[in-house]
This record gives sequence, C-alpha cells and structure tokens, in this order.
Amino acid sequence: MIDVRAQAARYYDLQPIAFDDVPFYREHIPWPQASVLELGCGTGRVLVPLAEHCGYIHGLDASEAMLAVCRARMKKADLGPEKARVQLADITDVGLGRKFDLVIAPYRVFQNLESDESVDGFFKTVRKHLAPGAACILNIFRPNRDPDGIVQRSGDPRETPVWEAPIESGRVFAYERFRQPAFRSADRLVIYPRLTYREYCGDQPAGEAVLDIAMRVYYPEEFERLIVHHGFRILGRWGGYAGEPYGQGPELVVEFADSG
Ligand SMILES: C[S@@+](CC[C@H](N)C(=O)[O-])C[C@H]1O[C@@H](n2cnc3c(N)ncnc32)[C@H](O)[C@@H]1O
Repeated sequence: MIDVRAQAARYYDLQPIAFDDVPFYREHIPWPQASVLELGCGTGRVLVPLAEHCGYIHGLDASEAMLAVCRARMKKADLGPEKARVQLADITDVGLGRKFDLVIAPYRVFQNLESDESVDGFFKTVRKHLAPGAACILNIFRPNRDPDGIVQRSGDPRETPVWEAPIESGRVFAYERFRQPAFRSADRLVIYPRLTYREYCGDQPAGEAVLDIAMRVYYPEEFERLIVHHGFRILGRWGGYAGEPYGQGPELVVEFADSG
C-alpha cells in the first residue's frame, strides 16, 4: 500500500479544525470501561484524548506516517498497550477477530473511500467489529453546493491559501486546489483536492509536501439512505458538533447500529 501521507503527515496536527469533536465522541462512550475502535485514527488527534475515558481503544490506519505521529503521541501520554494500540490496516478489508462497544471514524475518514466496493468493504468492517447492541458513528462534511455547483467549482484549478501555522524553524503555509475536475455519475460524486504544505524559515523556502486525496461527496438524505441500505438502523443524527440540526450545520454525523 502506497502511503500517500508519507510527506504530509507531519503537518496534519497543525491544521486548525473548525470544531471540537472530541467531547462529542467522549460522550458517546457507552460506559467507562467500554472498548472503542477508531477506523482511520490518523495521528491520534481523537484516539489519544479518548483513551483516558474508555477501557481500551484500538486504532487502524492505512498511513504508516500518520501512525508514527500517533505512536509518539501515545508514548507522550503514557498510554500502554493495555489501554491503546494502533496498527496499519485497510479499513475496507480487515478483521481483528474481536468486537468493540463503540466504532468511530471521525473527521471525514469515510469520504476517502472512493469506490462502491470500498464503501461496501467499510460497512462489512463496521459490522464485523460491533459488539451486540453497539453503535458506530460516522462523520462527513455537508456539501455547501448542489452537484452542479460542486462540479463547476472543481473546474477551477487555482490554488487558495487555507491556513498558516508557526513551527520551531519558521512557518508552514497550507494551500488547496482541485487537481482534476470532480467525477460525477448518477450515484457518485467525487472531488480531488490537492493540499500543498510549504515550509519557510524566515523568507527562505525550506520544504514542500503534497497530499492528493479523493473525497466522495454525499448529501444528507443520501448519506442516511446509504447507511440503511447496508443493513443498519439510524440511532441519532447531528448537523455538526455544536448541536446543529442534521442537514443544517457544516457536518453530517450519524450514529447507527446493526439492524439484524
Ligand atoms: C482526515 S484523517 C482523520 C484522522 C483522524 N480520524 C482524526 O479525526 O483526526 C483521515 C485518515 O483516514 C485514513 N484512511 C483513509 N482511507 C483509509 C483506509 N482505506 N484504510 C485505513 N485508513 C484510511 C488516512 O490515512 C488518514 O489518516
């Protein structure tokens, strides 16, 4: 598996995220000793703070570079293997041989799954790992345009600055652009953002990393239908992490359980 985040992982935690989702996931840990599985745990941004509020948390990610940052964070937080573990795995095709009391995939992980096969595989992974009565919570962003607007916007290849942050040796500037127009068919809409991180030491360029990703776009009703179509029943839905109603906030957050 090629690690598309090999160069970019070290900048991940510098990005300002417009919401604080950690308290939401913490509140959904069903009891203090519950076990949690995080699909696409990345650098441990959510995994590490959740660890002290559950019995055990297990993280899976396809990027060794993201996991390296996560492992360093786990070490700093003094999390031993009885409390938290992470491993390299494809969340669309993995079986850990154990079940969890809560499964989560914060910060739009699900949207990285571009094909129907990978989406089906992801839901199989969720089903395999849910303990009886357990819930899964998925998050994606809510599109702020209709499909025509998304396709049109994706045709503009200009780079826009998205954030900047200080680092020990200077500053990092992040830019975003579409590397190719969106793909659109009757039932699939995918955008192709390119994130470029440029590091400066004073005025001098000191490095650059590029992250190319695919983000599949879903609208609120479509997202719920997809979950139900895969044999789950919806338990809760939110429009963001600040109490926004579903379909009216910046994010789509859905909690569901196996309907079988
Ligand atoms: C936007 S980051 C989110 C990280 C973390 N959940 C958070 O909230 O900060 C998306 C993560 O999903 C991981 N990912 C994407 N597709 C994956 C796959 N098929 N298998 C495992 N991890 C995947 C990426 O490597 C990346 O670390």
